[in-house]
Amino acid sequence: LPDPRRQVWTEADVKRTLPRRDRNAHKGSHGKGLIVGGSTVMPGSVAMSARASLRSGAGLITIATVESAIPSIAPFIQEATFVGLGEKEGFACRPAPSSLSDYDGIAFGMGIGRQEPTRSLLSEILQEADTPLLIDADGLYELPLDLMQKREAPTILTPHPGEFAQLTGKSISDVLARPFSLSRTFAQAYGVHLVLKGPSTIITSPDGEQRVDVSGNAGLAKGGSGDVLSGMLVAMIMQHDSMMDALANGCVLHGKTAERLTSDDHSMIDLLASDVVEGLPITFRAFS
Ligand code: APR
Ligand code: MG
Repeated sequence: LPDPRRQVWTEADVKRTLPRRDRNAHKGSHGKGLIVGGSTVMPGSVAMSARASLRSGAGLITIATVESAIPSIAPFIQEATFVGLGEKEGFACRPAPSSLSDYDGIAFGMGIGRQEPTRSLLSEILQEADTPLLIDADGLYELPLDLMQKREAPTILTPHPGEFAQLTGKSISDVLARPFSLSRTFAQAYGVHLVLKGPSTIITSPDGEQRVDVSGNAGLAKGGSGDVLSGMLVAMIMQHDSMMDALANGCVLHGKTAERLTSDDHSMIDLLASDVVEGLPITFRAFS
């Protein structure tokens, strides 16, 4: 029997739940997001996340990244503002950006590296941010699970199976064999929203509700696709009242964009993550 708490999220569900744009909106209505990521060797990730976030309706995006990378990132994202982070050997370190409570959503981890000083920066943000915090990519590496349990604001983790295996101490084959039950156990134990990515993506709430996104294709199996998704999800979180709707809608819009692009101008071979960002306008015209 189908599990009523495990629902495939369809295009019709997206159309029904995607918030309509208010005529009297101003940029503050759609949220002020902070994207913390990048390093001197991985500067592009945050540019893609930030562009994806703005193309998904975020009102304002600030990128917090290592000071030395700002001049190389800024030309690729004219609409963003920047906060320079301190750095050790090209990787971000403490202190966290000031006034974290000014933001309506935060994403952490894309291209940030796994160095010890960067992990202390995340610990500080986990304790100080009283706003939804999405953690992706390198941010998930040796994540302090005890700090997540103490948070009052929502925490959203977006691992691929390899990252989830590391988080749970299981093998990748265990994760692939039991993705639903492992997701539910983890989300409930740590009080987080979990987005377990893959050809099918499973979205689990802290109380164990699950939705499945079956959109997308192997054109997305390329470095950077995850960074684009994280940026989209932050934008969705800031515009929805329901966290589950925000996450499921972001995942489906990401996958549907890739599907459309690979049936029109692109192939699964050539598709780049940045093409997905530039494909978002047609997707949003179709869905909103
Ligand atoms: N079908 C549908 N969707 C897919 C498929 C597929 N065959 N392959 C990938 N995707 C989607 C996933 O659902 C997810 O949304 O593309 C996205 C890929 O995200 P990640 O796995 O996070 O990939 P990304 O971060 O872009 O690149 C891999 O992760 O482990 C790190 O450092 C590693 O740089 C590497 C990076
Ligand atoms: Mg990734």
